[in-house]
Amino acid sequence: MTPLLCSAPAKVNLALEVQGVLPGGYHELDTVFCWLDLEDLLDVRPSAKTELVIQDEIGQGAEVVANEENLVMKALRGLEDLVDRELPTRLHLIKRIPAGGGLGGGSADAAAALLGVTRAHRLPLQPADLLKLAARLGADVAFGLQGGTARGRGRGELLSPLPSPPDLPVILLVPPFPLSTPEVYSCWDRLPAEVRRAGRGSAERVVAALSKGLPQDLLRSTGNDLEVAAEALRPELSDLRRRMLEAGCAQARLCGSGSTLFGLLEPGSDPEPVATRLKGLGRVLCTRFRRSPR
Ligand code: C5P
Repeated sequence: MTPLLCSAPAKVNLALEVQGVLPGGYHELDTVFCWLDLEDLLDVRPSAKTELVIQDEIGQGAEVVANEENLVMKALRGLEDLVDRELPTRLHLIKRIPAGGGLGGGSADAAAALLGVTRAHRLPLQPADLLKLAARLGADVAFGLQGGTARGRGRGELLSPLPSPPDLPVILLVPPFPLSTPEVYSCWDRLPAEVRRAGRGSAERVVAALSKGLPQDLLRSTGNDLEVAAEALRPELSDLRRRMLEAGCAQARLCGSGSTLFGLLEPGSDPEPVATRLKGLGRVLCTRFRRSPR
């Protein structure tokens, strides 16, 4: 029985295309995920009884709860069902990824829990078992198991690895309001057909840009079909996106279903002055892409 410290990186979607509605109400995606150099950490220790302790390092208060609703606990319970026994574990989660922002923090934590608990208890499970469980826990959890840069199809869980992006500075702007993922998708459902595919073609463009490795191509390629829906729910978001471009970002996009926005800077440029110009609009974080998978 081994204690383990597992990394749970945040992600952005360099491209996100919504291609239709699947039976059951989920949406079919063609998306490109990429890990960021911003992570939660999960310490996993087999113990006499199960407990989840959350160390909130960025003052999120009530937004992250240490109960059975937390995806870390759902991951543990899913593994217990799979092996048909209790797996008493002390889970200590250090939270640094803003919650409710489309950065995939909860999904990343769940993926870290699946890997950490499996290793710490030496469970005889195959990668395919974990992938199946991950897909049940949430659309982005499968990506958290492999990480790096990957194209996601289906609900986002059918993954194929891609080359890493060039090393660009990334700025995150976390507005003072979260957005609910189901609400953003159902707003997208109600959008007129002519505006709901603003990101059309972005997945193919980003894949081509990544294989060429040219930063300028990547900067021109990003797109997100959910942006129009999120901006319909929160019109301030289009203003914030414009402010990011005015502040010096070469490109600014919604992270997943929002509300966080990410800005990409020209390679080699200094993110600090850009971040300073954005202060007061929300929480501002400077990061980079994490360019290696697990
Ligand atoms: O899977 P996850 O828990 O991240 O999804 C949250 C909600 O987002 C789902 O209940 C669904 O309403 C919406 N969603 C979707 N299609 C996806 C991913 C998420 O409709 N591919």
